Order: sequence, then structure tokens, then C-alpha cells
Amino acid sequence: MESAEIRRRWLRFFEERGHTVVPSASLIADDPTLLLVPAGMVPFKPYFLGEVKPPYPRAVSVQKCVRTPDIEEVGKTTRHGTFFQMCGNFSFGDYFKEGAVTLAWELLTAPVADGGFGLEPEKLWITVYEDDDEAERIWRDVVGVPAERIQRLGKASNFWSMGVPGPCGPCSEINYDRGPAFGPEGGPAVNDERYVEIWNLVFMQYERGPGEGKEDFPILGDLPSKNIDTGLGLERLAMILQGVRNMYETDTLRVVIDKATELTGVAYGADHGSDVALRVIADHMRTAVMLIGDGVTPGNEGRGYVLRRIMRRAIRNVRILGATEPVVGDLTDVVLKTMGQQYPELLTDRKRVETVALAEEAAFLKTLKAGTNILDGAVTETRAAGSTVLPGDKAFLLHDTWGFPIDLTLEMAAEQGLTVDEEGFRRLMREQRERAKADARAKKTGHADLTGYREIADASGSTVFTGYTDTEGEATVVGLLVGGVPSPAAVEGEEIELVLDRTPFYAEGGGQLADTGRVRLDTGAVVEVRDVQQPVPGVTVHKGIVQVGEVTVGAGGYARIDVTRRRAIARAHSATHLTHQALRDALGPTAAQAGSENAPGRFRFDFGSPAAVPGSVLTDVEQKINEVLARELDVTAEVMGLEQARRQGAIAEFGEKYGERVRVVTIGDFSKELCGGTHVHNTAQLGLVKLLGESSIGAGVRRVEALVGVDAYQFLAREHAVVSQLTDLVKGRPEELPEKISGMLAKLREAEKEIERFRAEKVLQAAASLAAAARDVAGVALVGARVPDGTAADDLRRLVLDVRGRIPGDRPAVVALFTVAKDRPLTVIATNEAARERGLKAGDLVRTAATALGGGGGGKPDVAQGGGQRPEAVDAALAAVERAVAERA
Ligand code: SER
Repeated sequence: MESAEIRRRWLRFFEERGHTVVPSASLIADDPTLLLVPAGMVPFKPYFLGEVKPPYPRAVSVQKCVRTPDIEEVGKTTRHGTFFQMCGNFSFGDYFKEGAVTLAWELLTAPVADGGFGLEPEKLWITVYEDDDEAERIWRDVVGVPAERIQRLGKASNFWSMGVPGPCGPCSEINYDRGPAFGPEGGPAVNDERYVEIWNLVFMQYERGPGEGKEDFPILGDLPSKNIDTGLGLERLAMILQGVRNMYETDTLRVVIDKATELTGVAYGADHGSDVALRVIADHMRTAVMLIGDGVTPGNEGRGYVLRRIMRRAIRNVRILGATEPVVGDLTDVVLKTMGQQYPELLTDRKRVETVALAEEAAFLKTLKAGTNILDGAVTETRAAGSTVLPGDKAFLLHDTWGFPIDLTLEMAAEQGLTVDEEGFRRLMREQRERAKADARAKKTGHADLTGYREIADASGSTVFTGYTDTEGEATVVGLLVGGVPSPAAVEGEEIELVLDRTPFYAEGGGQLADTGRVRLDTGAVVEVRDVQQPVPGVTVHKGIVQVGEVTVGAGGYARIDVTRRRAIARAHSATHLTHQALRDALGPTAAQAGSENAPGRFRFDFGSPAAVPGSVLTDVEQKINEVLARELDVTAEVMGLEQARRQGAIAEFGEKYGERVRVVTIGDFSKELCGGTHVHNTAQLGLVKLLGESSIGAGVRRVEALVGVDAYQFLAREHAVVSQLTDLVKGRPEELPEKISGMLAKLREAEKEIERFRAEKVLQAAASLAAAARDVAGVALVGARVPDGTAADDLRRLVLDVRGRIPGDRPAVVALFTVAKDRPLTVIATNEAARERGLKAGDLVRTAATALGGGGGGKPDVAQGGGQRPEAVDAALAAVERAVAERA
């Protein structure tokens, strides 16, 4: 049975039994605790936790999943894949253990002819959680599985959770006995290669807290209802139903293996080592394509790293098998072909997927060979030094300069019997990151040395930010830097950096630009603040210029921000949140924020999207945002624990480092996001949001730019004025403009073509009279003439050839025409065959002419072209050509 058929049957079976079919979610999880979706239940997590009311009591899905903890096992065992499809059926407070067990049994054992999978009941073995008497009873008494084929197992294998706080519960697994060829008997408790797990039924009824591993975590309590979450590995069932030994040989992966054998010239099944490599290639390339399809791009962190690692692992294995040419294009192509049947969006997005994959291969191939040499050298040195640990700085060099993911270095070292000083490697990575951060800060502050700021922080603690509520207030100068160096005082005209004990000034951060404004001191000094930064955490530095008076440390004063600017920035920032939510609603969770800038009256918002966002979607998003404005939603901020924020569904950027306490900005019932920025109080203050369009700023990342409030109004007013001018010009209503203007453009194009035709005709009309005027020079028909100025080179050439064609072929002929265009003389000369037989070559004649014209030229013996600098020399050039003909003929 083909994989696609397994999927169809799965969905049909449960749909017929009252389950809503839910399409696979993106591999990029909308869940800050996860890098990638590892299980079918992920999209349903809020329903299990009771955070969101489920829209249906039962659901069925086939979810794309990626798991990489067992990456080293890929290819070696029979059933580890980094990408797989989890078939799941779910009940949210509807049926529970008995329903799940009987449905599973029915589907697995029903004959193929009746829509089932036709597995023999005696090959199925069951495991239940150690104290789950109820599950055992149902399997034994309701289904009729003999007691000896039901085994009890502990928490590590039969109690399921996501590995992080969240829903969990005991589970019961269905295992298939593949027979004595795969190992000794005794059931899944003894041997999980022979008795391979195909389906896990989780009785999701508890909520767990934080803890390590699969067993060490507290149960916090019951979930609001008793639920079912099941997961059947599509690839594993395919392996059984297709009668193959491992999941790599099932229909959708086998074709990738076959392509890899073709590309490497290594046969599959000949040798264990190369078989493993071929399986790794097939598995990893498929995962890579699926990840890229969902918008992941290779990188050094997070999901990007997962993708980079598996792609580079695949590419290296291809090289080990002997391929020397790039292969990713061909492998991507087969994966797209087979997976595209189930995920058609891969095919519509084919170009982008290929581009990303090929770019990663090209980048890696550039450094793979050199990096491998470095590694080999390091291995030799390590051994020579009598050690078995590759130094961390070598791993760092390989990572930093040669693009070797650390895991690849670990693997390659292990192949040579060495370990790697990972701690040393990570220390160097940390140091590098710190350096990069310091550099970035230095760019902002202009000073690489941060000690001055640190001294101030040590002496006076963190700056208190009052700007969430206040736009002005009293403050005391606690630090002053001139030229990046702490100073006790500064005088009029000096550029300074001022640190206050408390400030209403927002320091640039989280995409929001800094406030500007003034600080007046009791000493009479006035400082104009032009920029505000936080070069070290907690220290707000006001950069500006002393306009009058003297600034001294310790002086008291009054700080006031430019309120108009702040309000315009706040409008932009709130609009950014609305845009983020509206885009997510329209495009799904892939449209996660990738960056933003909130400036007065305008913002830009970058987000993940595998393809361009169609104009119609953008229009809808814009409309939705503006509708929200009119709903006058309150914008509120609240500080809470990270866990609580997450439970409330606040959007957080994965990979961001948040403290234990976070600030959550809520816009009515529409948006909730972790954010430290300043916002409006009510959406009505925004007035209007106008999206200006959308563009690509890198693979898988798009950018919208937009205007807010008065700026949006002014933009629309300007556009309106232009439209008015146009309607006056074309005398039509605004909605008729596109049609009228495109009509005009079409007419214009038509007219241009007509003119072109006339011009060409006119030039050719001259041909007859020119041919008739041929003079005999030493037995050669010579046409030498100057045609009207401004004739284009192409037209001149056409004319020359036309004239030549009019002279009978048996008569030697030379046609030499001249023109002057833009003050430059130009000539085209052609000879016919009879002339060439007499040694008259167009190229030579053009050189003669061009010399007279003060220039150069050349071409073939039959036709050539030249030009020069001296328009007044055309007659002389003509005479020179005539002389040359007379001499040579
Ligand atoms: N969530 C369970 C698993 O991943 C069953 O779907 O195995």
C-alpha cells in the first residue's frame, strides 16, 4: 500500500467517525517552547490545556514532524527518521480510553477491502503504563487481546509529555511483530526492533511542571478534561504494509535513495557502511526540503542550524560515497516530486526551495575540502601530542571560518576515534558573541570601550525608566561622558553622554527608535538630547549637545521628551503589533516577526513567509487593521511571569532571551505580545494605517512598510491629488483611469511601431535609386554615397545589404554608405561574392574609410562597419574607398 493511500485511509476512517479533518500545520511551531513541531498534537495543545475552547470535539490529522535528537541513529536502525508524518486522532473531552483503543484496533485489523490496514491481530502486541489497569482491561476484555500479549512498562516509555511543562498522560502503544528474522521473541518489553512500535495512544489527562528527562517532573494536576492524543508513524506502517525491512526503503524515500545511488555510482545493498550513508542522504535531504518548504533558511542558530546541520551532513555523506559534482539540485528535485503529491505547496514554491538548497550546497562545498584538511591536520597533531581530545579552538576555527557545524566536527572526530573539547568550543563561541554584541553597541554609542558605562552602572545602579507613564520629570545627573570618557563636567558646545538616575526617555530597543528632547539643569545648563541608547544593560545614555551653561555630575534638573515625536512613534509601535497579528491570522504562524522598526508615523515589519504575499491578502490585512482601529480597543501593559504570559497565548519571539518577569502588551481581544515598548492607550488614536507594499529582504523573509496617522493621511492625500490631476488630464472618472491609461499606452505603442515601419520603408526606398546610381570603377559597380544624417546603424546596414542585392550577382559590386549621427561619421560597406573573388574585402575597405574618418572599424569580408571622429571627412573617406577599389580590383 502506497504512503499516499495510507494517508487517505487514515483521514477517511476517522472522518467517517465524526472527526474534523485538520490540515498539517507548518513545521515551524507557533509555540515558543519548541523549535520545530515534533508531534501531531502540537497544534492542539491550547485545547488540551483548556486555554482555548476546541472548535470541534474530535479531530484527525497527518502532521509533518521533525525530530533530531536521534540524528546519529538515522540509517543505522530501521526506523529513525528526522522527518516523519504522524497520523493522529484527537478527542477533546469526548471519547477517552475505550474509544481510542477500539477505534485503533478496528482500523489496524479491518480488511484492506473494507478500508482498513488488514494487519493480522496475532502480530499486534500492546504495552500499557505500569499502573493502568483500566487500559489493560479494555485491551483484554473489550478488544480480546490475549493477556500474554499485553505488557506493562514504566514511565520512560509509557508516560508521554512534550518534554516541557504542558499536557501529559499515560499511554498505550501498539507494536507489530516483524518475526524471528528481526530478533528474539518476548514482546516489545524485550525487543523494540522486532516488535516495532507503530501507534501510541496517549490518555492526555494531566498537566506537568518543569523537570529533566522523561521521568523526573511533577504532575501539577488534572487537565480541564480527559483527552485523547494518538500518533501513528506513517513511515513505520508503510514499512510493514510494503514488506520492506526499514523505513528508508518505503516508497517515498526509496526513490531518493535510488537517485543518490545514481549520483554516487554506489549500489544500494552492497555494503552496510554505504547503505547507511545512502539512507542518511535520503532522510536528510527530504527533511531539508520539507523545512525549507516551511520557510526555514540555513543559519547558525535555532531552526536554521537544524537545517544547516542536516544538509551539510547529507552533502558530506554524498562526498564520502565518491560524488564530486553538486548533487543537491537532483536530490531536491526527486524529493519535491514525491512529497509534492501530498504537499502541493512545495511545487508552487519549487523555485524558492531549490534556490535555498542550492545556495547552502554551494556555500558548504566552498569550504568542505579545506575544512576537512584542517580537521585531518588537527587530528594528526592531537594524536601526535598523545591526546584523544581535539582542542576547542580547532573546532571553533572549523565552525567560524569553514562553516562546519559543531556536530559535524564531533562526528568526523569520532570517526577517527577522538572526542572534542566542547566546553572550550562553547567558551570561544560565547566570547565571540560577546564581542559581536559589544561591537554592535559600540556602533550605536561610538565607543568600543564600555568600561566608562560599567563604572557608572556600578556606582549608581540601573536607570529608572519613567516613560511608560510620564513624558517629563525631575532627574539627577549620575554620570557624564565626554568622548566616551567619564568627566566631572562639560561646557557649552560639547557633545556629551548623560546618565540620569531616572528618565522618561526611551532608549532605542525592540525595534522602537529613541526619544529626543531636552534636559534642563538647575545650574542653568540645557542639553539637547538627540539619541538615547543602552550600551550596557540597565544604563540609559542620553547623547546630545550642551546648548548653554555647564553640566556637572550631581546636578539636579528636569528632563522632558519631545512628546509629538513620542506619540507618533507609539502609534507606529501599536500599529506594528496589529500588523503582526493580522498577518499571522492571514498567513499562519510562519508570519512570525523577524525584525521591525518603529519610527515617528511610520514602521516596517519583517516576517517569515516562504513566498511573496499576494496583493489581495495585503489589502485584506490592511482592511482588518483599520477595522480594529475603529473598534476603539484599549491597549494595556502588564508585567507577569513568563509562564503565565505563554499560557495567555502572548506572542514571543523564539530564541529571544526573556527574564523571568516579562511585560505583555495587550490590544483588546486582538493582540497579545511580549514587548518593552511604548504604546498608545486606545487603537482609535492611530487614526489610519496604510500599508505601502511588501518586498523580499532575504530568503523566506518579507518586509511590509507602512504609514500611521497623519503620515498615512498625507500620503493618501498626495495620491488623491495625483489621481485628480490624472482624471482631469484623461477626462475620466478615477475608476476609469487604469483602463484609459492602458488604452493610451497601447495606442502609443502601436503608433511607435507605425513610425518605425515608415522609417524603415523610407530608408529602403532610397535603395533603388542608390543601386541605379552605381558607377563603374575598374570593372566594379561601386555605390558610394552619404545618406541622410541620423540614420541608425541598423538601418544603414539594412540599406547597404538591400542595395547590394539589387546589383546583378555576376557583376562585382561594392556598396559603401555613410551617414553622420550625433556628430559621428558612420559607414557600412558590403561586397558581393564576385567582388570578393577579385580581392575586395569589406573589412579592408572599412578600415580604409575609417582611417580617413579618424576612427576604426572592421568586420567580415562581406560586410563591415566602422566610424570615426571627423564628420567633415566623409567625402574624403568616400574618395579613399574609391581609390582602394580602383587599386585592388
Ligand atoms: N503525542 C504522542 C506522540 O508524539 C502521540 O501522538 O507519540
